[in-house]
Amino acid sequence: MEKLIINGGTPLRGKVQISGMKNAALPIVVASLLTNDVCVIENLPSISDVTLTLTILEKMGCRIRMLTRDRVEIDSRPAVCGSSPVELVSKMRGSTYLLGAELGRWHRTKVGYPGGCDFGVRAIDQHIKAFEALGAEVSVDKGCVTAAAPRGLHGSSIYFDLVTVGGTVNAMLASVMAKGTTVIENAAHEPHIVDTANFLNTCGARITGAGTDTIKVRGVEKLHGCSYAIIPDMIEAGTYMCAAAATSGALVISNVIPKHLESISAKLEEMGVLIEEYDDSVYVTRSGPLNRVNVKTLPYPGFPTDMQPQMGALMCLAEGTSYLNETVIENRFKYTNELQKMGASVRVVGHTAIFDGGAPLSGAKVRAVDLRAGAAMVIAALAVRGITEISEIDHIDRGYEDLVGKLRAVGADIRLVVYNDTQMLDEA
Ligand code: EPU
Repeated sequence: MEKLIINGGTPLRGKVQISGMKNAALPIVVASLLTNDVCVIENLPSISDVTLTLTILEKMGCRIRMLTRDRVEIDSRPAVCGSSPVELVSKMRGSTYLLGAELGRWHRTKVGYPGGCDFGVRAIDQHIKAFEALGAEVSVDKGCVTAAAPRGLHGSSIYFDLVTVGGTVNAMLASVMAKGTTVIENAAHEPHIVDTANFLNTCGARITGAGTDTIKVRGVEKLHGCSYAIIPDMIEAGTYMCAAAATSGALVISNVIPKHLESISAKLEEMGVLIEEYDDSVYVTRSGPLNRVNVKTLPYPGFPTDMQPQMGALMCLAEGTSYLNETVIENRFKYTNELQKMGASVRVVGHTAIFDGGAPLSGAKVRAVDLRAGAAMVIAALAVRGITEISEIDHIDRGYEDLVGKLRAVGADIRLVVYNDTQMLDEA
């Protein structure tokens, strides 16, 4: 097992380079299955969710070759439909994309029920609705999702009842080689939706409107392989922006698309953080106190739910009472119990967490209860004086490339320790 030990209170100073985006990498890597050809994916983040996705594709028969640390070649010609190992797909939400990709290529699919961060029920009814609209018969049984369209898939009109990132991606994957035109209404707008559509178009797809409410997919006969670079991870960038703000530091955060960070920058500026935007970097610094703020999570371009816990950590440090309203994910406040262990004054009422900022925080033993919750613990720990031990950090490895190395390079006192139940074994 591994833990992070953070001795906080040091302002972070220097430069952090942002990696490729997890939530674009997962659909794009899986979408390479649709090409029945060779794809080279660049700016791939070195995170455990990507490693797991590549392992699943390899188990399905794809030939995977890492060309460099962040470039992978995927030859999906030998892939076998329905052969993804259930015990692996059940570990992550991104495995839902296998459904759309298998249906799109083979007109049938069988994939274990997806897992991922525990936010309570994470339904896939909208994915199923999209597959059915395209002509597939879908069933969910014994922990598996099965679908088939023996007469092929046909273009259709899909109206989502709610804005769903995964549902929108799956509708694109399944319809890209369907006969005729598919119109996806109430589609998600996230930059990773646009990136996935751009990848598919580079492979020969005809998708327009990605990034708006309405996406049009004109079915093509087949896709071909391509070389494609993934966009930078706006959530990783936002996390380091919060870390700079929390520690009264000064960070240049590079390899970003500042436009994607606008909702995060706006809230940080409201809190008194200074942000300067450049072409592909932002400079984030704070010298005065943090102001209280209210935040409501919304689909893009609103404030991202994947930044909600990190913002919660900052609200503990702000002066006055801040309200954090979660509207996208049902149950994403478990981390507030961990912040309380550090002395935070926070209560959850329905879908809102209320932070009475300014209570003195101190180091404590806390858990990373999920991926972004882990990031919030790291931010709080970096800000407070004293030692914080964060356990269950495998969640953090799912989405942050080399967190320890990147933080150490900007002055953080952070160590990874490997231990068994009774003793510390090793330090990295
Ligand atoms: N929902 C349904 N039915 C569906 C699909 C979604 O009720 O068929 C609900 C969900 O339960 C949730 C909401 O709609 O309450 C939004 O779900 P969405 O489909 O948009 O999310 P997702 O595709 O499951 C992705 C990211 C999450 C991120 C959300 C929202 C990946 C692999 N995951 O999940 O990322 O929080 O979009 O932006 O892309 C993370 O990176 O930490 C993370 C959890």
